[in-house]
Amino acid sequence: METRLAITSRRDGRRYSDEPIPAEMIGRILDAGRLAGSARNHQPWEFILIESEAARGAAAGAVYRSELITGAALVIAVVAHPSGNLIDFDAGRAAQNMMLTAWDAGIDSCPNGIAAPESLARALNIPPDAKPLVVLSFGFPTTPRTPEKRAPEEWSRRARRRPLSEVARRV
Ligand SMILES: Cc1cc2nc3c(=O)[nH]c(=O)nc-3n(C[C@H](O)[C@H](O)[C@H](O)COP(=O)(O)O)c2cc1C
Repeated sequence: METRLAITSRRDGRRYSDEPIPAEMIGRILDAGRLAGSARNHQPWEFILIESEAARGAAAGAVYRSELITGAALVIAVVAHPSGNLIDFDAGRAAQNMMLTAWDAGIDSCPNGIAAPESLARALNIPPDAKPLVVLSFGFPTTPRTPEKRAPEEWSRRARRRPLSEVARRV
């Protein structure tokens, strides 16, 4: 998919089908996260695939909407390790890279805020100085959307976002 079309047509998707995500595609998603830039190239992240039933259960219990985790084909926790001073920003770059790469293959995704970070950290065996930032849920959508059916300008116009005149200014 063309980059601008991918960016303008992507929305957070929460209804996933049972179709598994091929291993090669999972590798591509993780690699997109790995490739993100970061302050002083510290790469202050770890991406944890949440696969076992126990870990899935813990993640479902730690986010705000458990069904996004239980219904997902792929769940990745983005964990910040304490190096650098722009950790949240860096991890956000990695997360968006992963979600856009998934969307390029028609795979939906959604960030899940973490309501209970301590219990998730325990379940994922995260060291005490590291912090789970967000849990990403992925899956093929139950109702697929076709990015190509609209021009990027139209996807942009339809997005529920504040207008550019409000979010950008010149000085
Ligand atoms: C840090 C972060 C945490 C989020 N947590 C949740 C969440 O817990 N549950 C959820 O359904 N969506 C969550 N979202 C998704 C936002 O609600 C979403 O980005 C916003 O609604 C825009 O959606 P759209 O791209 O579909 O328009 C989160 C997004 C971010 C950036």
